[in-house]
Amino acid sequence: MSSERHTIEALQQEGRTFPPPPAFAAQANATAALYERDLESFWGAEAIARVSWSTPFERVLDWQPPYARWFLGGTLNACHNCVDRHVEAGRGDRVAFHWEGEPEGERRSLTFADLQREVVRLASALRRLGVGRGTPVGIYMGMVPEQAIAMLACARLGAPHTVVFGGFSAEALGSRLKDMGCAVLITQDEGWRRGKRVPLKANADSALALAPSVGTAVVLRRTGGAVTMAPGRDRWWHELVAAEEGDPAGCPCEPMDAEDLLYLLYTSGTTAQPKGIVHTTGGYLVGVSTTHHYVFDVKPDTVYWCAADIGWVTGHSYIVYGPLCNGTTSVLYEGTPDFPDRDRWWAIVERYRVSVLYTAPTSIRTHMRWGPAHAEAHDLSSLRLLGTVGEPINPEAWIWYRDHIGGGRTPIVDTWWQTETGMIMITPLPGVTTCKPGSAGRPFPGVEVRVVDDHGREVAREQGGHLVLTRPWPAMLRGIHRDPERYRETYWSRFPGVYVAGDGARVDQDGDIWLLGRVDDVMNVSAHRISTIEVESALVDHPSVAEAAVCGRSDPTTGQAIVAYVTLKGEHQPSVAHVQRLREHVGRKIGKIAMPASIVFTGELPKTRSGKIMRRLLRDVAEHRALGDTTTLADPQVLEELRARALTDPGQEG
Ligand code: WTA
Repeated sequence: MSSERHTIEALQQEGRTFPPPPAFAAQANATAALYERDLESFWGAEAIARVSWSTPFERVLDWQPPYARWFLGGTLNACHNCVDRHVEAGRGDRVAFHWEGEPEGERRSLTFADLQREVVRLASALRRLGVGRGTPVGIYMGMVPEQAIAMLACARLGAPHTVVFGGFSAEALGSRLKDMGCAVLITQDEGWRRGKRVPLKANADSALALAPSVGTAVVLRRTGGAVTMAPGRDRWWHELVAAEEGDPAGCPCEPMDAEDLLYLLYTSGTTAQPKGIVHTTGGYLVGVSTTHHYVFDVKPDTVYWCAADIGWVTGHSYIVYGPLCNGTTSVLYEGTPDFPDRDRWWAIVERYRVSVLYTAPTSIRTHMRWGPAHAEAHDLSSLRLLGTVGEPINPEAWIWYRDHIGGGRTPIVDTWWQTETGMIMITPLPGVTTCKPGSAGRPFPGVEVRVVDDHGREVAREQGGHLVLTRPWPAMLRGIHRDPERYRETYWSRFPGVYVAGDGARVDQDGDIWLLGRVDDVMNVSAHRISTIEVESALVDHPSVAEAAVCGRSDPTTGQAIVAYVTLKGEHQPSVAHVQRLREHVGRKIGKIAMPASIVFTGELPKTRSGKIMRRLLRDVAEHRALGDTTTLADPQVLEELRARALTDPGQEG
């Protein structure tokens, strides 16, 4: 675990502590007593308090490792919980989303009543297209309210969705649609990103060539840009819903079993093939609404902003399902933080009087780099709580966030969780926990975490090890789509009976947890998970590439940056132009987020005598570190050459 060792060094001796401000504690949703509840009574009570059931559940949990079933016998509908019941309770006038388009001046506020009308209109139209219980639907959109509307319309009908992040390539979209067997794709003409148009429909057109199961594409008009509509297949959203009244009684919510599939979300693992993570309805909704309530301390007048993209799990759980289930008012912003200027986020906080802001450390470091003047130009006094997610946060960024964004007063919740966990698992509870910059605090009530060595034995305090989860939790994944073997193998085989997260961690003397980054072949770039193998297979897919090895190196802004070591086939010559060609090839195969930051050409890769590429050593080279154990290398000379090149040849940076 050489990467862990280095992270430990980086985080060592961070001694500052921030006890909860008394005024915050006095009004907080969370209390220390939550930690004393036993697992089943805690989740059973939360399930009744936070979610409406059409049929009450009979049992809280059935745990047959590695499969859990939660809230057995219960039926419910996620859309009813997120939308209809708030309107029925007389809260239809409350704003669900304050939406800001990227082009300045484009704004829309949708109340829960508006949301219900739009969801019902789309759901009715989808139903006429044959979508119903169990019909898989793909969603490939930008950050517009219609993306949430599309998810909720599917949930209303009992149709499971898979949302594919709008930054993914046509190929990535096509393979996901194919894996799930989607019958319908919901997309839009184009998206906005930093003033440029993202050709979502054109990408979708190429993707559909790979996914023959998709018979219909529903296309939202967003930018008005020209797109090709395939006759018989492509339908405009606005035309489909034109005749729909939006009467909820005309398109009722389908009662679903607690364990029915709500969605699949694909995430990178340690192979080239992304995993379709399975989330079901009841446990997921209970998990995300409960954590959202306590961790973000939401009140009826809270204006909450999770600045993630809906296409990632953070958006699913903490833009769509958690906040809407709790009837919370959210901000939704379409574009980038620097469009048209670097103060865009802070103008938004000021305009809507945002009280809770949730973002990734990589964004905080970007703002830090731009300097505090942009935030200082705006009134941020409405903020009362800040959150982070997606990667370890370095103490300087934590302190900067608190001082320059939180006015030196707000608690910060550093929340650890994963696509697989569905909900926040390790986090401070605001108003209860004494926060430490760089630590994610304790397991959420009902969650149990251990840190173990390579043999599965719990390590002593302050020692690094593997983070494992020892008890089931309601929003946990129920498997990997169509691959039960991979589910067991990836998460449950290394240590018997416990879930292996793939992260390193240590527990300090007070029992607080410090995350140390991934311990497997997964990189974390700008808080996005990318598999080294996925990037390698994209590279070797290029006709000039004989072999490629990929690893992450630390980057002051993005957390990690991707470094690729590439061996070209005999007739091809390394050049700066070729670096660019290969980067673009990866962008086309996976998406821009997976493009290597640097490409190093090499005649040979460091391999063991049995031919296995030694990524651990490449990581050492990329980090300019002293080399780890090289005794198993077939040809130690290779590494020396690479090391010399890494130190002297920055010209290869992309
Ligand atoms: C990392 C994102 C340190 C971790 C919700 C995990 C974190 C992966 C934190 C999951 C945090 C997430 N501190 N590391 N607070 N939160 N991670 O599936 O490596 O996109 O395994 O889910 O992000 O990424 P995913």
